[in-house]
Amino acid sequence: MTGSAVGLGNIWKFPYITGENGGGAFVLLYLGCVFAVGLPILVSEVLLGRRGRRNPISTMEILGQEEGGSRHWRVVGTLGMFAGLLILSFYSVVAGWALAYALKSALGAFAATDARTAAVEFFAFTSDWKLLLGWHAVFMAMTVFVVAAGVQHGLERAVRVLMPLLVIMLLVLVVYSARYGDFEETLTYLFEPDFSELSGESMLIALGHCFFTLSIGMGVVMAYGAYLPEGTSIVTSSLVVVLADTAIALLAGLAVFPLVFGNQLNPAEGPGLVFETLPIAFGQLPAGALFGTVFFLLLTFAGWTSAIGLLEPAVAWVVEKFQRSRVFGAVLIGFLTWLFGTTTVLSFNVLGDFKFGRGTLFHNIDFLASYILLPACALLITVFAGWIMCRNSSSEELAIGSGLLYKGWRLLSRVVAPVAILVIAFRAVGLI
Ligand code: PHE
Repeated sequence: MTGSAVGLGNIWKFPYITGENGGGAFVLLYLGCVFAVGLPILVSEVLLGRRGRRNPISTMEILGQEEGGSRHWRVVGTLGMFAGLLILSFYSVVAGWALAYALKSALGAFAATDARTAAVEFFAFTSDWKLLLGWHAVFMAMTVFVVAAGVQHGLERAVRVLMPLLVIMLLVLVVYSARYGDFEETLTYLFEPDFSELSGESMLIALGHCFFTLSIGMGVVMAYGAYLPEGTSIVTSSLVVVLADTAIALLAGLAVFPLVFGNQLNPAEGPGLVFETLPIAFGQLPAGALFGTVFFLLLTFAGWTSAIGLLEPAVAWVVEKFQRSRVFGAVLIGFLTWLFGTTTVLSFNVLGDFKFGRGTLFHNIDFLASYILLPACALLITVFAGWIMCRNSSSEELAIGSGLLYKGWRLLSRVVAPVAILVIAFRAVGLI
C-alpha cells in the first residue's frame, strides 16, 4: 500500500499544484483533507476489500447484496477502474520523463545547470513528442511486464529498501535547497496560509489530490485489502501509509520551493516544476550526476509501484470476465492505455495550444479523473462503509472494539467525510 501511495503524486504533482494554488492555504486544506477525509476513507476502502476478498467490482457487488440489498454498488468498482486507467495514461508519460531524466543525469546533462538552462532543457525535451512517446512506451512496458507476470514478493521487498532510500535522498535535497535556495520564503509560502488565495476550485483540487496521493477511490487499495491477513490492523496500517505519504510530499515541497524562490522562478510554473528545479541542485552538488541519476531512478521506481496498482484492477477484471490469460489482459489494457496517453504526450508540444475547459487535453483528463471521478467514488465508498454496511460488520472487520477509536472512525466516515466532499464539490461549481 505504501508502494502504491508514494509516487509521482507526492514528488511531481504535489509541488506543482501547490504552486498553482497559492501555497499555504492550499497546503493546510490538503492536510486537513488527508487526515479528516482521506484517512477514514482509506480505512473504509481497505475494510471493504478485506471483507469482500475479490476484485473490486465483484467485492462491491457482493457486499452490496449482502449489506444493502443491491448489486448496483458495483458501479463504484467500475468507475474506479476507469479512473485508474485515465490516470495511468498520463502517469506513465510523466514516469517516462523521470526515466529519461535519470539517463540525462547519468550522461552529465545537468553539470553546472542553472535555472535558465534547466527550463530550456525541459522545454526542448518535452517538445520532442516522438521521444516522449518512446519513454512513455518503455515505462508502460515495464508496468505491463510486472502485472502480466503477477510478481508481488520481489516488489514488496524492493519497496522496503528503496522507499527509505528515496526519503534519504529527499532529505539531502532539502538540506541543499535550504542552504542555497530561499528557505525562509519557502516556509512562509508553504506554512503561512493566506485564505484569500483559496478559490472553490483550489479546494476541490486539494480534496481530489488527497485521494490521488493516497490511491483512494480506484479500487486499488480495495484490491490490496483483499490480501491483508486477518490479524493485521487496518487502522494502524492506514495511519502508517498516510503519515509516510504526507511526509514525503512535504519533503518534496521543501526541496523544490527554495530553488523556485532562490532563482526567481514562478511557483505556478505547472507540470514541469520539479524537472526545472531539481536539476539545478544536481548541477551543483558534489557527485551531482550520480546523485541525480539515483534520484530519478528512485522516482521512477516509486512511480512504477504505483502504476502497477493502477493497471491491476482492469487486468484482473479482463481475466475474470473474459477468461483470458494475465498476459493477454495486461498487454491489451496496457497498450490501449498507452495509446490513449498520446493525448498527454501531445499536450506538451504539438497540441500545446489546443485548450478548452481546464486547459490542454492533459489538464482535462487529469481533471475528470482526479477531481471528479475520484471524489465521486470516494463519496460512494464512505457512504457505503458508514451508512449501508451494518455496524457489526464494520466493527468486526476493524477489530478495534467499540470504543473511542471506532466511534471516531464512524463519525468521520458517516458525517465529516461525506459533508466535506459535498460542500467542496458544491463550492467548486458555485452552488454555495
Ligand atoms: N498514489 C499514487 C501517487 O501519489 C498514484 C496512484 C493513484 C497510484 C491510485 C495507484 C492508485 O503517485
